[in-house]
Amino acid sequence: MAVDKIRVLIVDDIAETRENVRKLLQFEADVEVVGTARTGKEGIQFALEMNPDVVLMDINMPDIDGITATETICRQSPHIQVVILSVQGDQNYMRRAMLAGARDFLTKPPMGDELISAIKRAGKMAQEEREKGAKQQMVMTSISGGAPGMSGFSAMPQGKIIVVYSPKGGTGCTTIAVNLAIALHNEDTRTVLVDGNLQFGDVAVFVNEQGKNTIVDIAPRVEDLDSDIIEDILIKHQASGIRILAAPQKPEHAEKVSADQFTKVLQFMQRSYSYVVVDTSSILTEVILSAIDLSDVIVLITTQEIPAIKNSRLILDLLNTMGINKDRILFAMNRYDKRIAITPERVGENLKHEVSAVIPFDEKIPLAAVNRGIPFMLDNKSQPIGRGILALAESIRARVIALESENESSSARR
Ligand SMILES: Nc1ncnc2c1ncn2[C@@H]1O[C@H](COP(=O)(O)OP(=O)(O)OP(=O)(O)O)[C@@H](O)[C@H]1O
Ligand SMILES: [Mg+2]
Repeated sequence: MAVDKIRVLIVDDIAETRENVRKLLQFEADVEVVGTARTGKEGIQFALEMNPDVVLMDINMPDIDGITATETICRQSPHIQVVILSVQGDQNYMRRAMLAGARDFLTKPPMGDELISAIKRAGKMAQEEREKGAKQQMVMTSISGGAPGMSGFSAMPQGKIIVVYSPKGGTGCTTIAVNLAIALHNEDTRTVLVDGNLQFGDVAVFVNEQGKNTIVDIAPRVEDLDSDIIEDILIKHQASGIRILAAPQKPEHAEKVSADQFTKVLQFMQRSYSYVVVDTSSILTEVILSAIDLSDVIVLITTQEIPAIKNSRLILDLLNTMGINKDRILFAMNRYDKRIAITPERVGENLKHEVSAVIPFDEKIPLAAVNRGIPFMLDNKSQPIGRGILALAESIRARVIALESENESSSARR
């Protein structure tokens, strides 16, 4: 956006003034005069048709005066910035012009430098306003055109990406991702679960929904995604209500999905779902690294085993090097057995990162759940393992709120 030329419309009833101003601007590489108007009426009309960034506006004109024209233009197209150019150096005019919505006020004949810097300032502002408008539009479209049943969505305009990652295989990453997605999902916070383990992803198996559409069916279409395409391809898990984007059916198809495509799919889903939970493999692929980069919260899983703890230390260092704020990492311990002396507190102290959630070891429930293809959050959520997942979901909700207020206060300070 910033490299786009600033589009200028000149409104003045005197031909000579229009020509002089045009000449002053003709050698500016990033300014383009897109039109000239001779009256206030024409100015209003051309502003609508040409959609300039900046309007240079005279005050005294035959039909509609410059101040009234400014008012109309600012109301019609709030992103357009008007700079008044007038012989009247009068304070009263200036005040009226500003009240009408003008951004700046220059006296005629303007000095070249003065005019150009006023146009550049106004142009930058117009482009920022345009971008803001476009973003709002995007959110509005996703609210009205998004998936059904999105009540409460407006309270959460941008969904949160939660990446579940363990640097050691077999620690329960998928078990946690699947059950966490179910715990986070409700009518107000709709959740989609994405399998980021593109080679050997087994999310679909965990919910007994294998053999359906996968991410390979969307990846080539990322440039023109719409909610209908996405909704068609996502697996609808009836028992829980969550949606699932499954991994490719065959490991050799993993390479059909690039990191860029994966990122775009996540970003798209962020617009219609409150939570986008991503399961990962312990091998750090480009796809997983970019998901981590994009994520709001990374749930980092360890167990009480020394190799898992050692790898957690390595990954915490790596995330730090990647510039990931420590607050975005929620450290969790799975398969916790209180008979083992390596406690969450000790691990937290040792790695200088507090363990914020603990999921107990259960020898029967998770294994039976995966073999039946029925996640335990559906039928065993009151058991200790289920309560562990609920507590993890609560910590995530709290962390998301804390990060949001941190962001708000840091942007307020700026
Ligand atoms: N809290 C727990 N208590 C006991 N067993 C568990 C627990 N969590 C997961 N498991 C079991 O650990 C095994 C591995 O789980 P899972 O497949 O979720 O791990 P993973 O980290 O995703 O593995 P992979 O690296 O293969 O993707 C499964 O048999 C699962 O039932
Ligand atoms: Mg797994």
